[in-house]
Amino acid sequence: MSADTVKIGAVELKKTAALAPMAGVADRAYRIMCKKFGAAYVVSEMVSAKGICYSDRKTAGLCTITPEERPMAIQLFGSEPEFMAKAVDIVLRYEPDIIDINMGCPVPKVVNTSAGSALMKDVDLAAEITSAAVKAAGEVPVTVKIRSGWNSESINAVMFAKALEKAGASAIAVHGRTREQYYSGEADISVIKDVKEAVRIPVIGNGDVNDLRSCLDMYEKTGCDLVMIGRGSYGNPFVFREIEAYFNGEEYVPPTLEEKMQVMLEHIRLILSLSEKSEELAMHEARKHAAWYMNGYYGSAKFRGCCYQLSSYDEAVRLAEEFIRLQRSRNLC
Ligand SMILES: Cc1cc2nc3c(=O)[nH]c(=O)nc-3n(C[C@H](O)[C@H](O)[C@H](O)COP(=O)(O)O)c2cc1C
Repeated sequence: MSADTVKIGAVELKKTAALAPMAGVADRAYRIMCKKFGAAYVVSEMVSAKGICYSDRKTAGLCTITPEERPMAIQLFGSEPEFMAKAVDIVLRYEPDIIDINMGCPVPKVVNTSAGSALMKDVDLAAEITSAAVKAAGEVPVTVKIRSGWNSESINAVMFAKALEKAGASAIAVHGRTREQYYSGEADISVIKDVKEAVRIPVIGNGDVNDLRSCLDMYEKTGCDLVMIGRGSYGNPFVFREIEAYFNGEEYVPPTLEEKMQVMLEHIRLILSLSEKSEELAMHEARKHAAWYMNGYYGSAKFRGCCYQLSSYDEAVRLAEEFIRLQRSRNLC
């Protein structure tokens, strides 16, 4: 048996779980790891539409797509339809499978430019931006990622999603929190259900999914077409393997500690090989990932602290070995 599929435009995706965009976390190495473990598709870190138009140096690095990442969406944020259209035109040269527009980001740096979740306060502008992107994207489907609303007094995801559908969006991803909530409290998935019932395009459910059980809950309680996972994949690409195995009707074998450490080291090697920085500087980026792979074990707080001191790959190997020895000495693995 293999998992059902869902179509976003002409792009056919496994109906399992996708990797959410996460600036500063879900970089190319992270996306490759999650894809390898079964993510249905992955999304780039958000890229400024205006920045691209002014040929920001970082653009190529953020938008380049390797075969191992596909299918992949490039995510843009911006508040001006003309810049959005121009940015779409520019990123098409990287041949994204999907173009996604960020209308959910809560951070002041983005919101203060009227982009991200600030657009949830201006549905007309949001629709104009979507329509401009759709026109520029041609055959490439345009999706939009939104929140439930700006704050608890303005939960407007249903009306907003309908307007974006009308503007030509091929799918809507809904994170069941308001901008006011940032990442606190619990995601309200009833909003996702309401959006699903209101539009005909696929709806992607997002918020607090971190294992098979919460993924199935999201599917069952909202009727969404696909689930998207962000923080639940920290140090845990295995979450995609677990979900894919379930939908393929296969037995899932959870990773042993040894496998986790091997995968952690593979992830670090990938970060180092993709980075243009020196090993020491690239290790700075690898540190938090290494720490996440050690979550939830005896003594892991101390080891996570050690991860934040790592300055070479060899040190990471030694730390992983020491971590395994400690767990074995206590019969914990
Ligand atoms: C560190 C971090 C960076 C994020 N960056 C982005 C981003 O670039 N674009 C975006 O649309 N959402 C971004 N998000 C939001 C996530 O995509 C997702 O909607 C949110 O984390 C809720 O899902 P989760 O509970 O599965 O993590 C980010 C979240 C985190 C934690």
